[in-house]
Amino acid sequence: MSRIKILSEHLANQIAAGEVIERPASVVKELLENSIDAGARRVQIEIEGSGTRLIKVIDDGVGMDGDDALLCLERHATSKLGGNTNDSNVLSVIQSLGFRGEAIPSIASVAKMTLTSRTENDPLGTRVEVRYGKILKIHETGCNKGTVIEIKNLFGNLPVRKKFLKSSRTELFHIEEIVKNYCLANNRLGITYTVNSNTIWDIPAETDTLEDRVKMFYAKNTSDPLIPIQDSSTLSPHNDDITIEGFLLPPEQSFATSTKLRLFVNGRAIKDRMMAHAVSEGLSGYLMKGRTAAGALFVTLPHEAVDVNVHPTKQEIRFQQPNSVHKRIVSAVRLAMERFQMQAKHSIFGSDKNLNSGKTEQVSHKNKETGSANVYPLWNNSHDSAKSDNSGAAAYLPSGKDKTFSPPQYSEPVSTAEPTTPFLQTESEDLVPESLKPIGQFMDLYLLCEARRGEERFLVVIDQHAVHERILFENLKKQFDSKQMASQNLLFPKMLELTPESAEILEKNREEISEFGIVVEEFGGDNFIIKAVPSVISHLDPEEILTGILTQFSGPDYSQGEGRKRKDATRLDDILSSMACKAAIKAGQNLTPLEMQQLLKLMKESKAFTHCPHGRPVVRMFSAAEIKKWFHRT
Ligand SMILES: Nc1ncnc2c1ncn2[C@@H]1O[C@H](COP(=O)(O)OP(=O)(O)OP(=O)(O)O)[C@@H](O)[C@H]1O
Ligand SMILES: [Mg+2]
Repeated sequence: MSRIKILSEHLANQIAAGEVIERPASVVKELLENSIDAGARRVQIEIEGSGTRLIKVIDDGVGMDGDDALLCLERHATSKLGGNTNDSNVLSVIQSLGFRGEAIPSIASVAKMTLTSRTENDPLGTRVEVRYGKILKIHETGCNKGTVIEIKNLFGNLPVRKKFLKSSRTELFHIEEIVKNYCLANNRLGITYTVNSNTIWDIPAETDTLEDRVKMFYAKNTSDPLIPIQDSSTLSPHNDDITIEGFLLPPEQSFATSTKLRLFVNGRAIKDRMMAHAVSEGLSGYLMKGRTAAGALFVTLPHEAVDVNVHPTKQEIRFQQPNSVHKRIVSAVRLAMERFQMQAKHSIFGSDKNLNSGKTEQVSHKNKETGSANVYPLWNNSHDSAKSDNSGAAAYLPSGKDKTFSPPQYSEPVSTAEPTTPFLQTESEDLVPESLKPIGQFMDLYLLCEARRGEERFLVVIDQHAVHERILFENLKKQFDSKQMASQNLLFPKMLELTPESAEILEKNREEISEFGIVVEEFGGDNFIIKAVPSVISHLDPEEILTGILTQFSGPDYSQGEGRKRKDATRLDDILSSMACKAAIKAGQNLTPLEMQQLLKLMKESKAFTHCPHGRPVVRMFSAAEIKKWFHRT
């Protein structure tokens, strides 16, 4: 006699429930998804006792007739795969949140369920009572159009599972997360959410924009603007088959975990490391290390380009072309940050026809005499001018020796700006942005300025070190990208002996290292001679500069392909931001009024300035109304 037995349907449902229904929040998720798939405009969610006592979901969707109200309790019964469920391709074009026909029977097998439903065409609805998978009662009833599902005593027949549930606070937190997700994914859907008869949210239908909802969950107590993500393809509907939209919080409101970044693909809330990584990459240079952005990101793409049938809780998916999705997210986020910079510039400096015209971009400033690109390196940094020789281009002429680490090819001789005249290339009357006037310095660190917008006044507070760091970073990046890293010859080249490890790193990465504007030649054995250093930090000890760069090149060899590219980009940012940090005006440095104006001018001309390269914010604005409030003035 065969030892193998077919499981009873009841047992099969319980086993499925083990995967599909992990905790009360899973029930809420499945019921909410069903309501959304049923086209509901309003959903009411009531929770008692962290969900184990009661979960009730009421919707005004299409409802079910008497037959369907019974059929939905059968395993693998679904209305969502269209007519021909024998067609295996049907799974490749799933457009609804549900598709397996598993949720209702799974829930019903581990709880007491009452289902009441009516369609528009039926005068009476149907009520079905089920107890741990067994149908107890079916009868007709008067009820509203739509569906009400009540779940009581969840896991009442599975004491072990019930024991594994966490504290009521944790379970409620998970439920709330699910409700938030679907509130965001369906911003036209009205949602009422009550816990133990307390109304937590009562959000009307049809009125909210996505931005309203993101603000509601993330930015209720702040007037900080959100960063809209709008992929360029979103702007022209015929353009593309993938769109990326959403809102992020400003980078300083980032978190150590990725749980505050909500990701959606075709309206489905999912967890996806690749997408989260792409958002972080798009924000590189704005986010603090190890932090993740917060906000909601929506990717919409053809249903056949994504496999949703890869995880029992439908919270993971597989992209057909993950790399191209990654790239698109990175570029959408970068674009959003560019727009965000423009906006910030606009709100601080007001509208000015020169703003963002491109003609005032930093690196295009020319030193009148040499015609070279100038980084405006120092701000009263004590610069030992004896150390440098101002012969400029000489440093870049290849020495002809085989062992020379040849610097990049420069199209023009490189400036050796007189260090004690920091970024002064302009006449003073040219400096003042009419709309933003420096008032003074606070703690020799924060510039206090008054911004005028017509009749309106704002107090603008700027971190002088951080903003200058950002400006220099942007310039250095631009120089590096155009292989025009400004370098300065040392009057007294610096001899040094490297450890064998450092010498090896130098040897291995000679080309890349020379691109940073440092000229090093071998001098026999592990001895080297530094002949030129990056202009922007030429006031520093050359040995310190070289070892700093070498440290960034140490560590295991990088892998190939995309991973390597990303690591290279991170290293580049790290090296350039460290240079910018060392070259920037210091905290505690007293500035003259003219210097303050110069800094504002640089800020106005810079492509980006809202955050330092390490992700710290650099500017705060207070409206006159806000300040009046501090003093109870009306
Ligand atoms: N709130 C509802 N309104 C209208 N019909 C519903 C509702 N809930 C369930 N149904 C019907 O019951 C069927 C079974 O629901 P169930 O959640 O078990 O499966 P599914 O949604 O099709 O797939 P999945 O298991 O992936 O969720 C659905 O296909 C739908 O036709
Ligand atoms: Mg379902």
